[in-house]
Amino acid sequence: MVQQTLTTAEELLHYQLRSALTMENDSLAALGELASAAKSPEIKQLFRHHADETKEQIANLQQVFKLLDYKETTAPSPSTKGISKQAASLLERSAPKLRDQVALASALGNEHYEISAYEGLILPATALGLVDAVSLLQANLDQEVHTSEELKTTLQSLVA
Ligand SMILES: [Fe+2]
Repeated sequence: MVQQTLTTAEELLHYQLRSALTMENDSLAALGELASAAKSPEIKQLFRHHADETKEQIANLQQVFKLLDYKETTAPSPSTKGISKQAASLLERSAPKLRDQVALASALGNEHYEISAYEGLILPATALGLVDAVSLLQANLDQEVHTSEELKTTLQSLVA
């Protein structure tokens, strides 16, 4: 298969945005799976709450496509697929009493990946002067950072 070469900063940004859309769709699916896998009602609720936020993040990304007049399509996100695959295999081999811990650690991995993806979008978008797009991407990044803190605190108290 012949791949299109990305030659400009705008083409790269468009491609990264398309991957970010796949990333958020994968996150939404993963959070549903983690909510089912978790045992504690509080932890299930935490995943469901972030699933609702993820829907807002998807809407923000769709808005960015519109603002920049980019075609809204998706591009591969093998990293998020890999994180989910690893979580599924670890959940499968873990006893029920360990599932909350595994689910939280996996969600934390996903959040950290999402944070890096948004930082990788925001810095070049800022350099390109795309102020409105940057504020939507920043809103998503802020939510990811907040969620990762929440997951970390919950994991910390679970294993204490
Ligand atoms: Fe997200």
